Amino acid sequence: MAYFEGYDRRIKQIEACLAKYGFSDLDQMAAYVKEKGVDAAKVVREIQPIAFENAVWAYTLGAGIALKKGCKTAAQAAEAIGEGLASKGVDYKLFHMATADRNDVLAYVLQSKGVIIGSPTLNNGLLPTITPILEDLRGLGFKNKVGAAFGSFGWSGECIKEIEAHLERCKIPVVAPGVRAKWQPTGEDLQACRQLGSTTADAILKD
Ligand SMILES: Cc1cc2nc3c(=O)[nH]c(=O)nc-3n(C[C@H](O)[C@H](O)[C@H](O)COP(=O)(O)O)c2cc1C
Repeated sequence: MAYFEGYDRRIKQIEACLAKYGFSDLDQMAAYVKEKGVDAAKVVREIQPIAFENAVWAYTLGAGIALKKGCKTAAQAAEAIGEGLASKGVDYKLFHMATADRNDVLAYVLQSKGVIIGSPTLNNGLLPTITPILEDLRGLGFKNKVGAAFGSFGWSGECIKEIEAHLERCKIPVVAPGVRAKWQPTGEDLQACRQLGSTTADAILKD
């Protein structure tokens, strides 16, 4: 059974939220999230082995709500970028870093001419599921690739600046202006994403 710090103080509020999304308790919500292929507890513990139990449950609840609501914020942006790449005849593959195997991603990047990375802004930085792959890219010292960034934010929006600085550290030149959407991407943001894909495709084809 789910139990975490401050349980008695917090559970009433959490139960009201669970009921809103059709769940009787946190364990039922966790089972639903797992059934959808997301092991939120594992993701949290892999990032921070001494994570507090309430961080594990907060991420499980967040993942459950996102899955119930069918949130596809980042996926929509990534798909629009893909359309831009495809419009120029450049093949692409999307990876969702919360669930992708990093080795599969690296194997694909190895054979690719470009890499476009996205993240929301979290605590003035990037999502913790994105940073390990960025470090892998730097460590492997790939050559002859181009890159670009996209992301969402709520108020300060450091995501693009951070990804672009990292791409530069990896010696991957940034070839298209990063696209930054406030909260959910608008139609205009998605159009800018298509343009980002198309500009990156031009840089790849120029090689
Ligand atoms: C824990 C947390 C920390 C956040 N920190 C920042 C921040 O430092 N700067 C910022 O611009 N947005 C911040 N945000 C807002 C997220 O960037 C925003 O929720 C996200 O880009 C929009 O995606 P969503 O609709 O999935 O939440 C934060 C959000 C959360 C939940």
